Amino acid sequence: MFRSLVTRTVVPLLLAAGVVAYFGLPYIDRLLTEWFRADVELRARLLMSTLEESLPALVAKGDQQGLRRYTAKVLADQRVLGILICLPNGGTVFKTELVPALVSCQSTDELADGRSVVRHSPMGSVLVSVFDQKPADQTPYRVAILYDLSFVDSRQSTARDYMLAFGGIALVILALFLVLAAWLVVRRWAKILIGDITGRRFFDDAKSGPLSLPILRQVRKVLSEMEATQRLEIDYRENWTPQALQLVVRDQLHSPQMIVVSNREPYAHEFNEQGAIEVRLPASGMVTALEPVMRACSGTWIAHGSGSADREVVDRSDRVRVPPEDPSYMLRRVWLSESEEQGFYYGLSNEGLWPLCHLAYVRPAFRGEDWVVYQSVNRKFAEAVAREAQSDDPVILIQDYHFVMLPGYLRKRRPNATIVLFWHIPWPNAETFGVCPWTREMLTSLLMADILGFHTLYHCQNFLATLDRFIECQVDHERMTVALQGHVCHVGAYPISIEWPPRWLTAVPDVPQSRAAVRECFGIGAHVVLGLGVERWDFTKGVIERCLALELLLEQDPRLRGQLTLLQIAAPSRSKLPAYQALQRTTLAEVERINARFATADWKPIVLIGRHQPPEQVFELYRAADFCIVNSLHDGMNLVAKEFVAARDDEDGVLILSTFAGAARELVEAILVNPFDVTETAAAIRRAIDMPREQRRQRMQLMRRTIKENNVYRWAGRMLMDAARIRQRQALSRAEEALPAA
Ligand code: F6P
Repeated sequence: MFRSLVTRTVVPLLLAAGVVAYFGLPYIDRLLTEWFRADVELRARLLMSTLEESLPALVAKGDQQGLRRYTAKVLADQRVLGILICLPNGGTVFKTELVPALVSCQSTDELADGRSVVRHSPMGSVLVSVFDQKPADQTPYRVAILYDLSFVDSRQSTARDYMLAFGGIALVILALFLVLAAWLVVRRWAKILIGDITGRRFFDDAKSGPLSLPILRQVRKVLSEMEATQRLEIDYRENWTPQALQLVVRDQLHSPQMIVVSNREPYAHEFNEQGAIEVRLPASGMVTALEPVMRACSGTWIAHGSGSADREVVDRSDRVRVPPEDPSYMLRRVWLSESEEQGFYYGLSNEGLWPLCHLAYVRPAFRGEDWVVYQSVNRKFAEAVAREAQSDDPVILIQDYHFVMLPGYLRKRRPNATIVLFWHIPWPNAETFGVCPWTREMLTSLLMADILGFHTLYHCQNFLATLDRFIECQVDHERMTVALQGHVCHVGAYPISIEWPPRWLTAVPDVPQSRAAVRECFGIGAHVVLGLGVERWDFTKGVIERCLALELLLEQDPRLRGQLTLLQIAAPSRSKLPAYQALQRTTLAEVERINARFATADWKPIVLIGRHQPPEQVFELYRAADFCIVNSLHDGMNLVAKEFVAARDDEDGVLILSTFAGAARELVEAILVNPFDVTETAAAIRRAIDMPREQRRQRMQLMRRTIKENNVYRWAGRMLMDAARIRQRQALSRAEEALPAA
């Protein structure tokens, strides 16, 4: 520090002094010259007044001898160089020996009486002072006294040297003194400041002076900001919350407009039997996941208005603020005609793509007329998005297989938008997907998204393999990016999840109360082991296989009869479609058959509730169950498995989970089964019944931790952080493109 103070203080001070000296010295020189000259002129006048006594007589007589003698005495003053006596006509009366040739009576002619002039001779400068004498009765004459000024030059340079040396030394001493003083002050100040900072004394107890307080305050502010960031980073890794997600949107995405697009709406308004309007939450994994995200991020959710009373509650722009109890985002409804719904939703989406992507062995149906409607409905949604977009670069989160064509349409309308499409169902292998007659059109459109998200890496790889097989694009398998027509699409695995803790739990009684209430409600004895299945009534869910497994178990172990009941909630779904109607018929028939085979007067093995249940009731069921069975034949993720675990804050209950559900990659502590293997599933139920309490607790603890850390805020947060990075890169390359070529 000392050295830097020296270089920062002494060197500039010396430089400044040099500049001052350079410009100041000529002025000082002139000043000294004038002082010395005035001094010599005064002496000349004094000498002249001495000469006035004797000189007139000697001049009058023309006494050269006398003048020489007389002036010789005067010249004893070593600085007087000579004396010259002149007549008014310029003639010389007398001149001493050493008068230089350049000074003559003629050359002093123009000078007025009493004035002086400096003449420069090779021997040095000479000051010539003239005095006119007019004695009475005598011819006037002029006396010129010449003073040697060479001493002035030498004195001047000596004085200048002294001044420079003195000034320089004084400056250096002053600078060193200043540096030393500053160093001591700064050292002491820094010591106290460091003491205050390390002792965390930032305010009243600070020992630093008032000057340091703003610094301390600043340090405290920066520290608390760093702490907040660190806490957030830890939160990002371990505890994603709505607040953490909001910060991602604010700090990383810089609060863009968020638009979600899905077919299923988060809230449906329905007329009840009395004609009043009720709000219904649909049974949809996508809604379960996205709804808490939208609550946290706000924005606009665009969806098909399918509720019977939906039109009654919207404004003139088909908008309604939701959630109804505490509105925080906008729901924009899109209306579809019956034929549009038929071709788009029932037709291509659910008779074509749904069975195509799920390996549940229901044959997909692809009809040209459905494809036409599917595209026109995608265009309709693109139109709605364009209307809702308030800027040219909103973040658009598209959900699912209903909107394969939307990224392409939107990219044309909003080239700068950030488009994310999340595929909520599995992506099959290339051969399977290639069955679809419009594979190329679909893939080309999907690649216009910036991010294409799947639940698992396996689905991502299937997708990339499909691209490799069907379209010409550049696939970078290492970075998981695909370039097509100059656009880069990022493919990634983002396992979807649920909010943690689920908000419904606050309205649900604890486990003992839930057990009692559910058993009473469904007529199940207190001693009976309760297995639970909750899903949409869909052929991918393995409901019939589950009933068959139960039948096998009851067959294998008759002691379980009267001791075990499966409570199956099957929310009717897509019931217009023949495959779903057939499934419902078969399920009912099978349940009836099995119950008829084993039921007693006060017990039946399967209780089937073929109705949609509101979330509070579903969570009560989760708490009441001894085990939950999720044996989907094929499933993107399956959030029922995650909800069951989240509901069990008593750390009890067993989860039986299909290895063909995405959730099995995370919830490895569940009892994993091949749902196509009825024997294995029956054995899994047996294991669940017999599992000791401690093992149940340990498994449940681990699964709860997994879901807590990998909740839906993390899912959305990771995707949005990736979107933010992509946006930044795109903005950078747009800026570079805008630069004039070098
Ligand atoms: O979970 C997959 C999914 O396709 C969701 O995206 C969808 O909302 C859900 O199944 C229910 O389907 P639907 O909306 O046709 O009732």
